[in-house]
Amino acid sequence: MKSGISIDEVLAEVVAMVRPHFGKGRPADYIPQLAGVDPRQFGMAVCTVKGEEAYVGDADVPFSAQSITKLFALGLALNQIGDEVWTRVGKEPSGTPFNFLSQLEHEQGVPRNPFINAGALAITDILLDTVPSPDALVRDFLGMLSDSRLEIDEAVARSEVETAHKNRAIANLMRGFGTLTHDAEAVILAYCRQCAITISCRQLARAALPLAADGFSPIAEETIFPSRLTRRLNALLLTCGTYDSVGSFAYRVGLPAKSGVGGGILAVVPGQATIAVWSPELDRFGTSVVGAAALEHFSQLTNCSVL
Ligand code: DON
Repeated sequence: MKSGISIDEVLAEVVAMVRPHFGKGRPADYIPQLAGVDPRQFGMAVCTVKGEEAYVGDADVPFSAQSITKLFALGLALNQIGDEVWTRVGKEPSGTPFNFLSQLEHEQGVPRNPFINAGALAITDILLDTVPSPDALVRDFLGMLSDSRLEIDEAVARSEVETAHKNRAIANLMRGFGTLTHDAEAVILAYCRQCAITISCRQLARAALPLAADGFSPIAEETIFPSRLTRRLNALLLTCGTYDSVGSFAYRVGLPAKSGVGGGILAVVPGQATIAVWSPELDRFGTSVVGAAALEHFSQLTNCSVL
């Protein structure tokens, strides 16, 4: 990352630059519990592979991680069964919203990639082969990587399980095609609970450090992913991490990233740093409006785009 100023100064500039973007999006309302979050919050944290940390705003406020957890669930599944994951789910961008149904039927119940909801359900199904509660596995993995104790927000989990109508349709369609092997309701429950993990920007940026550090976690002081797998996870983030806005996100920000409807975005500067940003107002693709603007400014100010 090149710039004549410190990361703290870059973050201060970013805060000033994103101000006009508040009020342009809306918090997720299809999960009732998320609709009640104060929309004007904003936090951002940067962790470098050299051990520097910088943060600004609400960087220590826990938020609903939602789809960002899909990245860590995928990492666990790949560590468990390796390339066999790719017999269950593809690696292509979907060009469709994260909970789109008809493409899945066209493609015989095989999800396009592990980040759309269908793909994440397939990953949960894989994890259920070895553990009874993949949600607890992902929570504890994130906790270990961030050196913190993380919680599943029970109210968010309940709210999501009660309103997971589209996800149930996806799971049942996959069950019909035989691409989900466990009971659809068990998969839905674990998936919704995983999405309801709460985490702060600072914790998330720390947890993601292996993606910037060739698979090594300086926090856990151990290798989490083989280096080749780390590159592949970043490739999947760059091509599939923000669903049907992945092209415009790469155009604007130029970094591998994963969004979540809680308003968080995790971005990786391979070899250098991780950036976690959170602000609840979303665009129509389920990406934080202020978060994306913040990453765009950060990338420009530090010239850290990988492209
Ligand atoms: O299944 C859902 O719809 C949510 N639990 C997660 C969706 C999500 O975060 C999409 N990302 N932007």
